[in-house]
Amino acid sequence: VILGFNLQKDVDILLKRHLHEKSVSKQTLQNYSMSSNTFGRGKKEYSQPEPTAQMISAKEKMLREISLRLRVQQQQWQDSPEGQKMLELRRSLPAYKERDALLKAISENQVVVVSGETGCGKTTQLPQYILESEIEAARGASCSLICTQPRRISAMSVSERVAAERGEQLGESVGYKIRLEGIKGKDTRLLFCTTGILLRRLLVDRDLRGVTHVIVDEIHERGMNEDFLLIVLKDLLPRRPDLRLILMSATLNAELFSSYFGGAPTLHIPGFTYPVRAHFLENILETTGYRLTSYNQIDDYGQEKVWKMQKQAQRKKKTQIASTVEDTLEAANFNRYSHWTRDSLSCWNPDSIGFNLIEHVLSHICKNERPGAVLVFMTGWEDINSLKDQLQSHPVLGDPSRVLLLACHGSMASSEQRLIFDRPPEGVRKIVLATNMAETSITINDVVFVVDCGKAKETSYDALNNTPCLLPSWISKAAARQRRGRAGRVQSGECYHLYPKCVYDAFSDYQIPELLRTPLQSLCLQIKSLDLGGVSEFLSKALQPPEPLSVQNAIDFLKVIGALDENENLTVLGQNLSVLPVEPKLGKMLILGAIFKCLDPVMTVVAGLSGRDPFMTPFDKKDLAESAKAQFSGREFSDHLTLIRAYEGWKHAERQQSGYEYCWTNFLSSQTLRAIDSLRKQFFSLLKDTGLVDTDNESRNKWSHDEHLVRAIICAGMFPGVCSVGNKERSITLKTMEDGQVLLYSNSVNAQEPKIPYPWLVFNEKIKVNSVFLRDSTAVSDSVLLLFGGNISRGRQDGHLKMLGGYLEFFMKPGLADIYLSLKRELEELIHCK
Ligand code: CDP
Ligand code: MG
Repeated sequence: VILGFNLQKDVDILLKRHLHEKSVSKQTLQNYSMSSNTFGRGKKEYSQPEPTAQMISAKEKMLREISLRLRVQQQQWQDSPEGQKMLELRRSLPAYKERDALLKAISENQVVVVSGETGCGKTTQLPQYILESEIEAARGASCSLICTQPRRISAMSVSERVAAERGEQLGESVGYKIRLEGIKGKDTRLLFCTTGILLRRLLVDRDLRGVTHVIVDEIHERGMNEDFLLIVLKDLLPRRPDLRLILMSATLNAELFSSYFGGAPTLHIPGFTYPVRAHFLENILETTGYRLTSYNQIDDYGQEKVWKMQKQAQRKKKTQIASTVEDTLEAANFNRYSHWTRDSLSCWNPDSIGFNLIEHVLSHICKNERPGAVLVFMTGWEDINSLKDQLQSHPVLGDPSRVLLLACHGSMASSEQRLIFDRPPEGVRKIVLATNMAETSITINDVVFVVDCGKAKETSYDALNNTPCLLPSWISKAAARQRRGRAGRVQSGECYHLYPKCVYDAFSDYQIPELLRTPLQSLCLQIKSLDLGGVSEFLSKALQPPEPLSVQNAIDFLKVIGALDENENLTVLGQNLSVLPVEPKLGKMLILGAIFKCLDPVMTVVAGLSGRDPFMTPFDKKDLAESAKAQFSGREFSDHLTLIRAYEGWKHAERQQSGYEYCWTNFLSSQTLRAIDSLRKQFFSLLKDTGLVDTDNESRNKWSHDEHLVRAIICAGMFPGVCSVGNKERSITLKTMEDGQVLLYSNSVNAQEPKIPYPWLVFNEKIKVNSVFLRDSTAVSDSVLLLFGGNISRGRQDGHLKMLGGYLEFFMKPGLADIYLSLKRELEELIHCK
């Protein structure tokens, strides 16, 4: 197969031919997603010949038998001593008082909205009430409940809890399903899954046949997937009058959802929480005797950070690092608490809530307060880790053996999770450092003290410049109240808000929905593949529709990568991308990797980009970690190729039983590498299902590892993420078409280079923090960009995204771009004539 001169077109032709040959149909695509036949009646049965009366009665008989068996099992458990104890515990939850009212409302209405304080029993009890009542009514065999969770960790922990409450193992009547894993069996009637999993199922089973109840949890968070799911379900309800939809929300803006569903009834579960005393900064200073001067908030941690960066900047004389130093110093100057007015919101800096204030409050609690766990809300994973390291290396909280310090964030391992819920031994104080995920979706029962920094890292999206931003921003009043409420679960509690009261007063009431602050590419692709009509029209039906410009940017992007054609129809490539559980451009890389027979290294890159970075940079060993990483980079000028080498080295070490040592000496996270490994396995089997990969080729050495080829595929996947490289005497200037000058994150291997002997860098992600930063990048040559960087048509002239022609025109001398383009055009014609 000749490929390469109009890559996009050729890939599409190839895929089309391929799909035709293998007659890969929707049936195969179905294998991609949660197989639906575990839910009573799956799709397969519908395509079978009409059943005879005899078959029907045999089936009914079987269903009746299963229902009776389920009822007996449930009754036996409830009558057992352990079951009795569990029931008693469950009955003490506030939701129990509303059980009958809830069930009645659900049986009488197609849509019901339920709200209630976190911990009142919505997630664990409500689905169970429905399941139990269905089983009691001998309808156990034909009911099928799906309860969606915004986060993987809550889907897992809740399903485990519910199974335990029913005296069962996971995978009996209760199961869960998240991206890489899941436990469910043939008897599973209640499935907890992430919202993404349900959306994926809708892709192949638009009517959710066999499902009787859909419960969408945590809708108040207004995640993009949840908002999207609500539009789809709203469309589905008239077609499935027997389907029941239950929406669950923690805070009290239930009316919004109720009116979205035409005035659906709302049920509120009255809360039971103990009073929590709120301390704001003024008051904390007074009670703890902490002295705040205008400059001391740039604490030891901050000082050290600035000092290290200055040292680095001197060493490398790099403008990008120097400017970060300036930013940080400027931040320090802003640190005045003298005017506690609304204006202070604008000059309040994320660093101003210094670690030493948090440490001070923690040590105050440890030394002076009654027993009880502490929950600290911080901005992000990096902060959590640095504080944890710092507290472990300088134990300011008293006897270290009496403090149990734990981190809690979205992607931690399940073994780590359990520790968070467990009660520590007598006399040991549990301190959990958490992101905002501990606000609503998980409940740690023994928390008595909450420390709230007032910020959360929130992605936002600058549609005008088509750039995602990730900045710590102030939380909403609703979130602050929610955080405070976490302290009153078992007894009255205390909440330390590390900001003045006037700052709280200036918070907005609720957080902005995610749909309005993220790029919409994956979502648009999904809308297209679900055949939901025009993207803009569909999204205009959302609770709060996104800006037209954001939608247009996403559509343009999908056109540039070849997922949509000029008429906004899904291409064959687009169809294939919509079923891969990664961002569209990463999916494209996988498909190209399969076509160009270099899937093995490409899978590593894609797995690495869709998860966490396996390279670790402990704060106190930054230089060592950097030089360990540099060993892998060689002279390739590529973060992606560096990752491939590190991963392959680890695989080799694993085979020699020295994987752990390898990770330790090279500052790699074995947990992340293992996650990459299992993602790779999943990619491989998905691609095998499409028929793009034949089974024989599984063995690793069948795939090319040619670095030129891999670099080209990386370029094809990353486009239009391109910036030009200008080597100056002392520094490197990087420019993208949209943002002008951009910088590299300091952990990129290219940030350590004094010169990059290539004209372009392709990158996966750019993010606006203070300036625009590129995360991972790979250097490529003109010819690679020309051949692999997308179509030559010039695209929308007024928009921000342009096709390759636009890029070349923008960056090259005028004549040169023309020569390149006509060369490419001629080559293309030549190939197609042949
Ligand atoms: O969803 P909601 O916030 O209303 O509450 P829930 O998650 O259903 O939790 C209800 C109660 O179950 C909590 O108060 C916890 O006491 C308990 N629970 C637990 O012990 N272990 C879990 N993994 C989840 C909940
Ligand atoms: Mg819940």
